[in-house]
This record gives sequence, C-alpha cells and structure tokens, in this order.
Amino acid sequence: MVECLTSVWARHGRLTSEVTYTESHRNMPRYGATDTGQALPRRCGRDCNLAAMEIREVAVVGLGTMGAGIAEVFARAGIGVVALEIDAAALNRGVGILDASLSRAVTKGRLTAAEQAQIRSRVRPAAGFSEAAAVDLAIEVVPERMEIKREIFAELDRVCSPDAILATNTSSLSVTAIAAESKYPGRVVGMHFFNPAPVMRLVEVVSTVLTTDGVAATVSDLARRLGKTPVQVSDRAGFIANALLLPYLNHALHLLATGYASRADIDLAATVGIGLPMGPLALLDLIGLDTALSIMEVMHGEFGLPRYMATPLLRRLADAGRTGRKAGRGIYDYGDSSASDNHDQGGNALVSAAPDTVTLIGAGDDVEAELASAMASAGINVTRNAAHPTDLIVIAAEAGRPVLPAALAAGRPEQAVGLHLAGKLAPGSLAEVVQTSLSSADAVEAGTALAAKLGLATVRAPDRPGFLAGTLLYAHLADAVRMCQDGYAGPTDVDTAMKLGCGYPRGPFELIDAAGAASVLTGLEAMHEAYGYPEFAPPPLLAEHAAAGIAFAASPRPGR
Ligand code: 3HC
Repeated sequence: MVECLTSVWARHGRLTSEVTYTESHRNMPRYGATDTGQALPRRCGRDCNLAAMEIREVAVVGLGTMGAGIAEVFARAGIGVVALEIDAAALNRGVGILDASLSRAVTKGRLTAAEQAQIRSRVRPAAGFSEAAAVDLAIEVVPERMEIKREIFAELDRVCSPDAILATNTSSLSVTAIAAESKYPGRVVGMHFFNPAPVMRLVEVVSTVLTTDGVAATVSDLARRLGKTPVQVSDRAGFIANALLLPYLNHALHLLATGYASRADIDLAATVGIGLPMGPLALLDLIGLDTALSIMEVMHGEFGLPRYMATPLLRRLADAGRTGRKAGRGIYDYGDSSASDNHDQGGNALVSAAPDTVTLIGAGDDVEAELASAMASAGINVTRNAAHPTDLIVIAAEAGRPVLPAALAAGRPEQAVGLHLAGKLAPGSLAEVVQTSLSSADAVEAGTALAAKLGLATVRAPDRPGFLAGTLLYAHLADAVRMCQDGYAGPTDVDTAMKLGCGYPRGPFELIDAAGAASVLTGLEAMHEAYGYPEFAPPPLLAEHAAAGIAFAASPRPGR
C-alpha cells in the first residue's frame, strides 16, 4: 500500500516545488506542552489565522465508504471537495459510491436531479496532491495504519498552505503522534465522523496538546455547518464513542463465540431489549471486523485492560477476510440472503405448541401478576401450585437473581424455565427464556412457545447474571461511568456522542437514570461476583450515585 502510494505520488509528482513557504513559516516555533502534559496557552503568529478561518474548499484523501460519505457531506453543505485516492481505479470506485448515494437520495425523493448535479459539481476528482494546494482543510480517511497516515500528512504538509487545517478521521490512532511529525503541529486535529457518514450526526473534534487554540472551535463550527453536532475531546484512544462502543461489540462477539447465546438472539436482545438501532453483531459487520480489530488493539495498547482485548473470533474473522458488509461476508453473509449461515434463528423457531397449563412461580410482585394475567388472557391455565401436574413451570425471573434455586424448590427443575421481561410486558417486547443447567430441551421449547403466544419476542439465555440483554448492557454502562469517573468526558457529552454517533435513542447515562443507578449496580455486582472479571467491577462513581439516590442528570458533580 505504501509502495503504491509512493509510486502514485511519484507518477503525479511530489510537487514540493509548487509550494513556496516563506522563511517565516519555516522558522515558526512549534507549540509544545508543559512537563505535566498540559497544553500551553498559545500565542502565535501565523497559527492565529487558523482559528477564525472560513472553510470554502476541502480535500478528502481516501474515498472508501467513509471518505466518500464525508465528501458527500461537505459537498451537500456547499463546500468544494478535492477528492484524492491512491490511483484512478480507486478514485472511480470512490466517486461511484458517492454517485450511488446521491442517486438513492433522488430515487427516494430527498434530492432533485438539479440538486444532485449541483452537489456532484462541487466534487473534483484530483489526479494528485498538487490539486489540494489551495484547500482550507484537508481530511485524511485512509486505512488505520500509521505509516500510511504519516506519508499522507507529509504530502499534505508539503502541498497545503500553512494556513490550512489538517484533519484525520482516525478512529483510534494517536492524533498527537500524527501532529508531532507535521511541520505545523498546531493545525492538526482529529475530525472523526461515524458510519454511515451522511446519516450519523456526531463529529468528534480531537485536540492534542499541540493544537493551536481556536482550531478545534473552527472545526466544530465547520461540523455545525455540515449539519453535524461536534463534541470536543482530547486525544485518547477510541475518543468517546469508539472507546465505549467497541468493547461492547467485542463482548457480544465473545458471547457468540462461547455459545452463550445465538447470533440472532444477541442482536435481538440489543435491538428489542435495549432499544438500540442495530444489534452488536450486525453493527460489527457495518463497521468492518478489520477496523474493529485495529481499534481494539490500539485501545488495548493504550489502556492495557482485559476489557479491550480483542476476542479471538474477531481476529480469526478478520484474518479470514470475513470483514463484514464490505467483503460480502462477516458475522452474517450478505452475498446470499438465503444462505444457511444466516438462519440461526432456528433455535427459537417453534416446533412445539404453547402449553395449556403452566405453574407460575414468582415473588408476588407486579411482574408475576402481569404474567399471570397475560397468560390467562391467552387462554392458558395458570396455577401457583408446583405439586400440581403441569406441562411447564415458569419462574418469573428477576435480574440479579438466579432461576435455579426456585426451580429446585419447585421439585421439577427439568420442567422449569425462567421468563425475564426486559421491559414492560407489551406486544413485541422482549422476553428472555432463561434455561438453567437442569432445564430440559422440551421445557425451553415450551417456554419459548409460551412467550410467543403472549406476543413477546423471545431470546434464550443461560441462568447467569444479567441473562442476555443485561450482560451486554451493564458492562457497557459501567464503561461509560468509568469514562466519566476518569474525567475524560461528562455524562452529557457521553450521551450526545452515543445518541448522535451510534443512533442510541437514549445515552448510557440516561439509561442508568431510567433504570436507577442502584439497579445497574446490583446487576454489575452479581456479574462481578459470578465471573470475577475486573471489567464487571462496579465503578465507585456508580455506587456513590446509587447510595445517594441521585440521578446523573441531577448530580451537581457528575464526574471526578
Ligand atoms: N449511506 C447513506 N445513507 C444511508 C446508509 C448508508 N450506508 N444507510 C442508511 N442510510 C440512510 C437511508 O437512506 C435513510 O435515509 P432517508 O431517511 O433519507 O431515506 C436513513 O439512513 C435511514 O435508513 P434506513 O431506513 O434504511 O435504515 P434504519 O432506519 O435502520 O437506519 C442506520 C440505518 C442509520 C444505519 C441505523 O441502523 C443506525 O443508526 N445504526 C447505528 C449505526 C452506528 O452505530 N454507527 C456508528 C458506528 S461506529 C463508527 O462509525 C466509528 C468508526 O470509527 C468505527
């Protein structure tokens, strides 16, 4: 790849002679950091221009899925785009992605043909870096390999005006390391878009200790012009959204690899159970398993914690070239929708009818009453007497409490399953059919059929803390609290990032506040006790909110 880039640049000329830096530019001081790593207040000559500049034309280097999407976003906002790729074929492919996206918008009636032509006319496919000489900002959107990024920044350093801002769309690599090698490190920032770029509204604007004051504000203003919402952060692996999203996705893949739950159930638990727009496995395929792997590796290198260790299946799928949608195959198969590989919902396909008579065991609470009344309405005879011969024992399961003790107490554990409602009992809402190590296959089938008869979407989960949806969610929420506890980002920025970058209907802190910090704490404590993994240890900040009975939204000091 690097060789290719070099040869392309050699073919089109390195063009350093076309750029004339004045002596004062060359001698410009570098902006440094104090010994403590805090940014120095920056007074400057030339870099001050960066702060208030108007962005009229940009260069987008790399026109893959993300780059093409980003080029489209700029062009739609009336900004001229110089599009650069590794060679003419890649450039044609990239422009093809852009054209297809604009044509789709026309077909859907979101754009007129005239608007499409106008947007398209703003994008100028370029034969070489020299054509980026006059841009106000250049953004690099190339694969996550530092050596490629270095080459591109060196080239941009050579051709762009010293007044131009140089941005990287890196997901996780050190923006500081990229900046440090630039002639003008003060102008280098992260401008991190989310996939699909034309749709997701978040842009993370990443400053380093070298970034000149005002540059992040200029880039944030630009993001707003693009119709996006900027969140300003400092340079740390994964920034906000990826640092929270990727460990959660990796955890989901680990659950699949270890046979904890099926692929379809994991994705259903996240969408129907938690309300997320996509299941974690489908989202991994959208992001790309190779991209996900490199983000995990960078985060693991930076933080060194087990939570950031890529699960072996992620590495194997990436090694196998099953990188997701872009390859036609990842965790799912996109080439052939009828592929047997895509049909693992068979586990929950109903082969038996719902039982006529059920023994219901619960804590005498609202959930038990709700279940009893829903079963009765569905024409199922309900008894509370375990000794009464019934087809199935249903234990109204509670998060944080195992089902097995109640199943044993009922005397017929092989005929017992738990039924856990992830939310309110309503048509289409999620029921987790909890199988203990003694539940028979027939009981699990009958429990699934029963839940379906009640109009619920079902997943199967082992009798472990959090069952399925909770297992995924609690660890994810703990990561968010830890990020806030570390002082990296506050609850509002975290919630904004996850809502606008990943389409969450509610941010992690809004989810905690809705469930109650105490209930999330109980779930995490149970997981931590069962597994002993440090990543399930409840963060002190969560315990403090639970003890104080205070919502994050209402906290006078939400992070420390
Ligand atoms: N490109 C362009 N537009 C797209 C698109 C794509 N790939 N996919 C969907 N859209 C558009 C559709 O055309 C539609 O637009 P319209 O309303 O104007 O017709 C709109 O998005 C909604 O699409 P659909 O109705 O087809 O589908 P959904 O309602 O299911 O939404 C989704 C699709 C927006 C992708 C939604 O599922 C979602 O928000 N998913 C989460 C995505 C996410 O988490 N992204 C972040 C990944 S992490 C990342 O990118 C960081 C990186 O560093 C790894």
